Amino acid sequence: MTLSSPTPLSLIDAAALWDVTPGFLDSCSYGPPPRPAWEAMQKSLDEWRAGAGSWRPWAESVDESRDLFAQLMGIPAEQVVTGAAVSQLLAPVAAAVPDGATVLVPEIEFTSGVFPFAVHEDRGVRVRTAPLAALADAMDAETFLVSVSAVQSATGEVADIAAISERARHTDSVIHVDATQAAGWLPLDAMDVDFLSAHAYKWLCAPRGSSFLTMHPQLSARHPEFAARLRPLAAGWYAGAAGAYYGMPLRLAADARAYDISPAWHSWVGTAPALEVIRAVGVAAIHEHDLALANRFRAGVGLPASNSAIVSVALPIDAADRMRAAGIRFTVMDGRVRVACHLYTTQADVDAALAAIRG
Ligand SMILES: Cc1ncc(COP(=O)(O)O)c(C=O)c1O
Repeated sequence: MTLSSPTPLSLIDAAALWDVTPGFLDSCSYGPPPRPAWEAMQKSLDEWRAGAGSWRPWAESVDESRDLFAQLMGIPAEQVVTGAAVSQLLAPVAAAVPDGATVLVPEIEFTSGVFPFAVHEDRGVRVRTAPLAALADAMDAETFLVSVSAVQSATGEVADIAAISERARHTDSVIHVDATQAAGWLPLDAMDVDFLSAHAYKWLCAPRGSSFLTMHPQLSARHPEFAARLRPLAAGWYAGAAGAYYGMPLRLAADARAYDISPAWHSWVGTAPALEVIRAVGVAAIHEHDLALANRFRAGVGLPASNSAIVSVALPIDAADRMRAAGIRFTVMDGRVRVACHLYTTQADVDAALAAIRG
């Protein structure tokens, strides 16, 4: 497969690019890589080990990944920041929230979308919580910013981004969506929200350490005072205009790249081919496949069908023990078994888990 080729890839052909040992239902924790990503990364590690050449091709993977993520999210690449973690990318966003402002988050939101705001408590920034299902209703004129995962890490619940965005038009709130548990299987449009972040190591099947943040092109028009306070707080040589290696004056990139941090090269070498596979298959096909398998699992444990690739279910401890003994990889969150189905998951994986549960 040529990685730069826009050739579509069937889900079956794509799944054959994975070397996952059967029984992996833990894509919420991390996503194993397709072979092109693994091989590209190993090659770059060999080059590093041997001092075989320049780092520049490794760094080019950052812009390839940025372009691919932009395509996946329907936003121009100039509006995409690259970084190492969601929490790190949110730090400048949180610093631009005014003193005394209220930030609204779902009750069990993953902390990387909460703590960047909560650390500003000393200047009066207040983080308020509401149940996910009632988040849009909980937004009021005091809600400066809403930070919400498109898909909840703990439960797999899918947020109603359309309702939250619609409400934001009335409350004038800034919207941040964390797509870490969604990007790669759930159709998303970064143009629907002010900021969309994602760490790529789960459903985008990249190594840990490559993350994205989109910034809506109309941010300054929509929220002028907030946008004027945004600062690229970790600016270094990589945030600079081309060749900004030494000394003053400050010369930042003219686009979202000003917010980039210097890349962890080898992570990005593994990220670009993984994104290319996801893009070539298409999120719509992956969505259909992941939901069919997740709903097969749900039916098997007596749950109604849902709209999520993540299933959270209370099972007796011995059922979870039997799953482990059968070699099923999954997580337990708050005493509930959490399983996840992605493009490399097979019916056999799901059926093996169900057989173990039945004992
Ligand atoms: C919803 C969500 N966001 C973000 C992360 C990772 O956060 P960070 O990139 O800050 O490590 C996770 C990891 O489990 C997650 O589930």
